[in-house]
Amino acid sequence: MEKVILDVDTGIDDALAILLALESKQLDVLGITAVNGNVPLDYVMRNSKKVLKHMGNDEINVFRGASHPILKESFHEFRVHGADGLGGALQDIEVDETEPGIFAPDFIIEQVQKYPGEVTLIMVGPLTNLALALRKEPRLSKWVKQVVVMGGLISEGGQGNVLPTSEFNMFADAEAAKIVFHSGSPVKLVSLDVTMKTFLTKEHVEWLHGTKYYDFIKESTEIYRALSEQKIGINGCALHDPLTVGVVLDPTLVTTAKYFVDVETKSDLSYGQTICDFKNLWNQTPNVEICLTVDHERFITLFLDRVKR
Ligand code: BDR
Ligand code: CA
Repeated sequence: MEKVILDVDTGIDDALAILLALESKQLDVLGITAVNGNVPLDYVMRNSKKVLKHMGNDEINVFRGASHPILKESFHEFRVHGADGLGGALQDIEVDETEPGIFAPDFIIEQVQKYPGEVTLIMVGPLTNLALALRKEPRLSKWVKQVVVMGGLISEGGQGNVLPTSEFNMFADAEAAKIVFHSGSPVKLVSLDVTMKTFLTKEHVEWLHGTKYYDFIKESTEIYRALSEQKIGINGCALHDPLTVGVVLDPTLVTTAKYFVDVETKSDLSYGQTICDFKNLWNQTPNVEICLTVDHERFITLFLDRVKR
């Protein structure tokens, strides 16, 4: 089984990514690392633990990570994920406050060093934890098997979800993203223009009726689906983070190519923009494997099949 660490800012679609990762029964999840992002870190810790408890999974630890971006102020997405970050779902679940006494970036370093060439990092929040880990132990970039990141915007004409140019995870900590992209780590980027092709629609949710996670998925995605219906006319929840897990489960779901990608950190207009040098005008060595297309039907089928328990 592939060894992975799942770095989350839970978040509705992060919760679905946790479901997919664990229910796939195909991944050896060494731990979940929490980062400030969609909601403040305390909420991320609580939400991640709630999801695990709801799944009946008490073996996986949630590690507390960065509570703030590297340089900028925190930016949260309550509008999309609700006041609690889970769209109001799992309110009755109480979780205990005990935590493993190790900081998430240190846990990442420890595990990747323990299993060199074997650990895949699945990063579905701002990249602060990994950036801190790489600053502390730069050899991490040589030891890690791959880093699969949900973030950025690659295709021409694509629109961001925070700024016209910028996707949330990059915008939430562009300095961290820059550190990761320049680290020499083998990065695969599952960008917003690709994840926006994968929607969990109202019909998909209803298809899950009668299964263990139906109530949770229905309730947690309700506000997300309503917002998306209002904005783009689709009653659906974009599966950004689950697709990123999906790419690890089955890399053939996407086509990819390697280019030099950098992140804008200076501009107010386009902070967090990912810039892909398709024509190699900067004459740099390619550092990021970007996703070009996704077989969205095959992915949705995989997602529903794995979480339908
Ligand atoms: C990303 O930002 C968050 O709101 C989602 O959880 C996802 O990781 C999409 O831009
Ligand atoms: Ca996320």
